[in-house]
Amino acid sequence: MYNIGIIGCGKIAQLRHLPEYAARGDVRIAGVYDRNQERGEAVAKNYGAKSYHTYEELLANPEIVAVSVCTANNSHAEISMKALQAGKHVLCEKPMALTREECREMVRAAERNGRHLLVGHNQRFLKTHQEARRLLQEGAVGKLISFETHFTHAGPETWSIDAGKNVWFFDKDKAVFGAMADLGVHKTDLIRYLTGQEIVLSHAFLETLDKKGGDGTPIAVDDYAVCYYRLEQGAAGTMTVGWSNYGREDNSTILYGQEGVMKLYCDEKYSLIIEKKDGTRVSHEIDRIQTNAGQSKSGVIDEFIECISEDRESIISGREALASMEAVFSAIENADTMGLAGKRRELR
Ligand SMILES: NC(=O)c1ccc[n+]([C@@H]2O[C@H](COP(=O)([O-])OP(=O)(O)OC[C@H]3O[C@@H](n4cnc5c(N)ncnc54)[C@H](O)[C@@H]3O)[C@@H](O)[C@H]2O)c1
Repeated sequence: MYNIGIIGCGKIAQLRHLPEYAARGDVRIAGVYDRNQERGEAVAKNYGAKSYHTYEELLANPEIVAVSVCTANNSHAEISMKALQAGKHVLCEKPMALTREECREMVRAAERNGRHLLVGHNQRFLKTHQEARRLLQEGAVGKLISFETHFTHAGPETWSIDAGKNVWFFDKDKAVFGAMADLGVHKTDLIRYLTGQEIVLSHAFLETLDKKGGDGTPIAVDDYAVCYYRLEQGAAGTMTVGWSNYGREDNSTILYGQEGVMKLYCDEKYSLIIEKKDGTRVSHEIDRIQTNAGQSKSGVIDEFIECISEDRESIISGREALASMEAVFSAIENADTMGLAGKRRELR
């Protein structure tokens, strides 16, 4: 039996981590902590766990062998590092941390302490993505030329447990990143996973087009980003992410190869479609994407526990997450944040 601790008891903890641990026969949710004490206590009561007053007290319990870190972005590194130093295995939510150095330090801390560090990149566990990776490697659409990937939804102000325009996701100090890293790290990681290639060149355009905070002024982080990525074997593509899609969530990816096109989550029914150069079309009905409104099992928690019990490297290891974050950091560093109005003036 694995005794688990949950640090941060908001939406992602309540919709994925807690129920997915509870569904396993070999896990006991032993301790929880949230800086909102009432929330922590309510969750503890629901799961028969102990509610702690600080996360350090939770980490001091020697019976707890592993923790999920489900807090706001600005505390991922600090809590994960202390947990690893305390000898716990760590499953940290994305985005992994705020800087390259923090991400690298987390990986080093896991290695130094001989513990597993995983990051919640759940897109890798979707059956359609796994099948797409296999088919791409088999050459189903030939050599990859280009790609486009999208992740847009209505934004975190309705998702967060502390919903509203003052949501921490809009707060530059707590979130640090906007949509580019919040949603973009999922798709950056997905492109690396699908293609098995590293990103060697990146550039992003970051904008705040629509979202306003509680004071009615535009939020200080980006709510829309377009990113250009080039892969090591020469293919190039775009990633579009945004928090201002008030229609149906878009989680689609299209891969253009020399022999055809592969479409992922572009069709309601058929999650993987291959259109070949000769006009043939094969449609696979595999699964539905996990959306904010429609939650399904993420697979991340099972992977975490299995990695611990089998003592094996994970496909969502800290090292893999670090490589995806490196691409995100580099895109943000190279980003154009002037806004379109500024650009238009420049072109005249
Ligand atoms: N893998 C995914 O697809 C996915 C989806 C949503 C959110 N997330 C990530 O999960 C993390 C949490 O997001 P959420 O949607 O659950 O947010 P949320 O606002 O619903 O919940 C955050 C919770 O953490 C608590 N908290 C914040 N900082 C804390 C700290 N320093 N110590 C203790 N408690 C703290 C808050 O009180 C709140 O209960 C974020 O980093 C987010 O990016 C990942």
